This record gives sequence, structure tokens and C-alpha cells, in this order.
Amino acid sequence: MNAPLPLNLCSNTNYEISPHPDHPRLLHLRLNPQALRGFLDNVRHIDVQNLEYVPFMRFHLAKTLLAHMGEEFGATLQRIVKDRKHGGFTLGLENTSNNSEDFVKFGTAIGHLLGPGNHDSMSGTYYARFLVKHTDASDSYLRQAYRLFTLHTDGTFVSEATDWLLMMKFSELNAIGGESRFLHLDDWEECEQFAQNPLGSQSMLYKAPGSKNVSEQVERPVFFLGEYGLSVSFIDQFVQPQNSEQAAYLYELSQSMENSPGTKTVSLPVGNLVVLNNYFYLHGRAPFEPNEQLHRELMRQRGMFAK
Ligand SMILES: [Fe+2]
Repeated sequence: MNAPLPLNLCSNTNYEISPHPDHPRLLHLRLNPQALRGFLDNVRHIDVQNLEYVPFMRFHLAKTLLAHMGEEFGATLQRIVKDRKHGGFTLGLENTSNNSEDFVKFGTAIGHLLGPGNHDSMSGTYYARFLVKHTDASDSYLRQAYRLFTLHTDGTFVSEATDWLLMMKFSELNAIGGESRFLHLDDWEECEQFAQNPLGSQSMLYKAPGSKNVSEQVERPVFFLGEYGLSVSFIDQFVQPQNSEQAAYLYELSQSMENSPGTKTVSLPVGNLVVLNNYFYLHGRAPFEPNEQLHRELMRQRGMFAK
């Protein structure tokens, strides 16, 4: 299905909005390369360490991007991510740069048009860059290439809100498979049945593994009603069932999501990013085909909507 575009989301001289080719709800924005070059030139003198240390500089980047894309660009991005029909978009640098510092700046500007980035405990700053390679010795699925990274939401084991998440592809070599997988709650045919089960509104305990550098324990239900309607919070690796009944419910829920025809595979070219509403989208990754030379680098950012 191709959801109709809201009337006020039609084309603009500096960007065009179209349905995403791989996903019936996501929108794809094509940005004017000249405007992107202007932005990158304007922020050339700002180094990434400055962004890591000084939060207001991240918003300064967002404001600079608006100056090139048009003042309503930020409101347009917010409207898409908050809109239950869409809830997410992809866009990219249109081959105007392959420099990873430019990627960090561009991703930061897009994220901060939505609102402040959250602290990422894994990296110690507001974004994290990580590699997926042939071998991995970590303690979660994030960097393990050859297994399915099961559908989940972000921020389950921290108490601060995670309204949106952004993932940007920095580089990719010798990669077959490994596509992103997304499930919008309203496309999951068994959602209602799991949401109405009393276990769905019971508090579940979450604890993170060592690599996340988060020692707090958080309790939250799988389903809740929020500002954007029925919302979900779930990740199989970090939820700690307290009895066999909770465990069986979580097992069935995860299986149902993985097997849902609503779960769509989306490809993301280098230099492109995807932003999702973290309340009603689940995300995961398909396994890669084995290759010793496999190399993929991604950046993630997570944050809240500006108040
Ligand atoms: Fe995630």
C-alpha cells in the first residue's frame, strides 16, 4: 500500500518527498545537492569534538541546515516522524561527500531538527559509530553479522525517553544481506491480541549487558498508550522475565513479529540515514552472508522531540 502524501508535504525547491521504494509507510526525501554542499561548506570549520563537548553546537548545525533547506524543513521532518501513518523517513547526502566527519555533522543536524540527542552510554557521547565485521567478541547482537538481529525498540533499559532513533550508513564493503527490517505496529496483524493480553500491560524488568555501560534496572510494560497512540517497548536480549508465564508471552510475541508479513526489509545506501518513531516502529537487521572481508560502519543517534 502507498499511503497518500499529506497535501502540505509536496515538493519544494530544495527537497522532494516521495514514497519509499521498499516500505509502504516510510517517506524518502531527496535533498538538493547544491544546498547540501552549501551546508557542508558552512560547517567545515566546526570539528566533531566540538559537537561532542558542546551540546548547543549540535543545534547550531541544525539551524545552519535549515538556512540551506528552507525554514519549514525541520517542521516537515517532525511532522513525518510524529505522523502515525508514516512515522519515519530516509534521506542522504546525495553523493556530495564521503567524509565521515561530514556524515556525523549531517546526521547531527537532522537529529537535532527533531530535538536533543540522548547520551549514548556505549560511546560516552550523543552518537555511536560501530562496525559490523566477520568476527565479533561483544556481548549483544548489535555487531554480530551472521545472526538475525531480532525486532526491538531502543532505550528499553534506560529511564529517559527515546522518542526517535536515527541510523546512518558510513561505509559498506563485501556485504550481501544485512538489510534493515522494520515493523510498524499497525502493520502487525497479531498486535491487538498481544496488546490485549494482561501480560502486555504488566511491568517487565530490563537490564543491559556490560558493553552498554548502564547499571540501572528499569521496569516498563511492553504496551502502553502514549501521545502517538498504542506504543511498544521491547527487546528480547535485555528483558528479564520473572516467571515462565512472562517468558512464554515474550517468546510468542517475538516470534509473531519476526514472522509478520508487515515486517519489511529496507536497504540503506552509504551516506543515507533512516529516522523512525521509536514508539510505534520496531527495527532489526537481517543476517549477512558470510564473508571474511565484510565491513559495515553505522552511526546511531537517539533522542527526544524538542519541547
Ligand atoms: Fe536498535
